[in-house]
Amino acid sequence: MLKKYLIILLTVVIGFSSCIRSSQQPGRQYMADMVNAIPYEAGSANPIYRDGKTNQLAPAGSVARGKYLYPLADTEYIKAASLITNPFVFTKDEIEGEAKHLYTVNCAICHGDKGDGQGHLVQIDKFPPPPSYLNEPLLSLSDGQRYHTLMYGKNMMGSYASQLNHRERWLVLSYVKSLQDASKPSATTVKTDSTKTK
Ligand code: HEC
Repeated sequence: MLKKYLIILLTVVIGFSSCIRSSQQPGRQYMADMVNAIPYEAGSANPIYRDGKTNQLAPAGSVARGKYLYPLADTEYIKAASLITNPFVFTKDEIEGEAKHLYTVNCAICHGDKGDGQGHLVQIDKFPPPPSYLNEPLLSLSDGQRYHTLMYGKNMMGSYASQLNHRERWLVLSYVKSLQDASKPSATTVKTDSTKTK
């Protein structure tokens, strides 16, 4: 019984006394390298760089991994025809699923579900009909120029550069192509069977 109290007392005394340290003494450090970082802290001064800061901006012209840098300026619409091509190959499922979804959300409101320029906004007289994808000149418009229009917009159509990423822009354009193919009398390619749509 006494032994038990003695142990408790001893633990308490040792426990408290181990905390009483002179504030003048730094105490012991284990693995000092983990406490005192060898590299410069992000916000600290740094004698190595010219501006004396550790945090540096990325060099001009850097492109983040996975980001796409569109090489043409707004005014270079004509150049887009030969310079910009679709780097992706999409499966039928991707076109009928993801691409159709993106088109329905972003484009169908003006261009219409079939691409004939008779979207909901046109039908309720809120927007003049955009040109139909199913006729010339849009039938034979180059991929690059379509992409350029998505990047910068064209007349009444706004830019989709910030709403859609590089892959999504090509996805949605592939869906536009599939609408055009489906409307051709000799369409042997993509048939609109949308069972896979989410
Ligand atoms: C607010 C209505 C509206 C929406 C939404 C819209 N468009 Fe358009 N789009 C237009 C109009 C208007 C034009 C005709 C522009 C012109 O040639 O003056 C056009 C033209 C186009 C063209 C032909 C471009 C060219 O270079 O001649 C393509 C391709 C196109 N749109 C694709 C899309 C896609 C894909 C989306 C969805 C991501 C979309 N549009 C969303 C109104 C719209």
